Amino acid sequence: MSAASDLSLPFYERDICYFSPNGASLLLLDQTLLPAEERYIAVQSAEQVAEAIYKLRVRGAPLIGIAAAMGLCVALQKAGDIAAFAVAKQTIGSSRPTAVNLAWALQRMETVYLRYLQTPAPHSLSTLLPLLREEALLIKREEAQRCEAIGTYGSALITPGMGILTHCNAGALATGSYGTATAPIYFAHRQGKAPQVFADETRPLLQGARLTAYELQRSGVDITLLCDNMAASLMNSGKVQMMLVGCDRVARNGDTANKIGTYGVAVLAHHFGIPVYVCGPTSSMDGTALTGHDIVIEQRPAGEVSSLWYRHPMAPQGCKVMNPSFDVTPHELITGYITERGILQAHELFADGK
Ligand code: MRU
Repeated sequence: MSAASDLSLPFYERDICYFSPNGASLLLLDQTLLPAEERYIAVQSAEQVAEAIYKLRVRGAPLIGIAAAMGLCVALQKAGDIAAFAVAKQTIGSSRPTAVNLAWALQRMETVYLRYLQTPAPHSLSTLLPLLREEALLIKREEAQRCEAIGTYGSALITPGMGILTHCNAGALATGSYGTATAPIYFAHRQGKAPQVFADETRPLLQGARLTAYELQRSGVDITLLCDNMAASLMNSGKVQMMLVGCDRVARNGDTANKIGTYGVAVLAHHFGIPVYVCGPTSSMDGTALTGHDIVIEQRPAGEVSSLWYRHPMAPQGCKVMNPSFDVTPHELITGYITERGILQAHELFADGK
């Protein structure tokens, strides 16, 4: 039985993004159906890959990068022509703007492509594709290693029975492997520290309820779900000692874009003296963005706010709606960054030049 089809395994041991045996399709666990149904979809063309990313069938910054890199391979195979690289990269790369992992992973793929073009002709898909697949799978393996390192460093901060609040899903479902914000939790759970985790539901698309609560519960972690507007009273009750969140893009000064609502809970945590740790691999760090003002925030359709979750509308027709998918938490509110290089302060994030 493959890691994908063995439904009894925790998500961090499952493969939620993989090539079909002949390499022609990319198989993705469709996260829009969770937790009701675990179903894989097969994508081949660049348009299908981009649609899966845009619709959040595959989501979470590291997994978007992995799916984009692997998706580029199947898209090229489908196009049947190495000259299709630029258009396929552009189509997949324009699917979502905020998570820097998307552009970062595609850039790595392009480096392999350009290097290949400099080798002596003749050039062909059959000699290019193995190189691209190798790079995409390397990105996937490296992200898994980064999550494990984040788990090792982050779990050292967790004391027995500690209350931890998280927002959105920065879990196995967002990365493969152990996730970023969830890696310290999974490691602490395995170490017998029994962390008490609280998951904000994360409106409008409910990644906290549908995904984080689901993956942690399936793994035996103590998890309590709350509506986003309950965080202040939860913190006031004294049940939260730490906040762990993921990131979609960290600017050079440490300002951090993550799921909409992260900023609000970070402000609350500051009020209650609760430390806030951003968990993120260096693939989510963008030294070209000097501050959070340089990060493009994705704006998503109004219908996700006004009509998605009921069969009838949840708001009056024509009502103006705002739906930014991310916000930027200023670095002043962030206690530390748990990365594969250790637990860093904002000024240490880009110390080695990335
Ligand atoms: O819109 P999404 O579901 O892709 O947003 C995901 C998040 O905001 C995560 O916290 C972030 O990508 C980190 S995933 C390790």
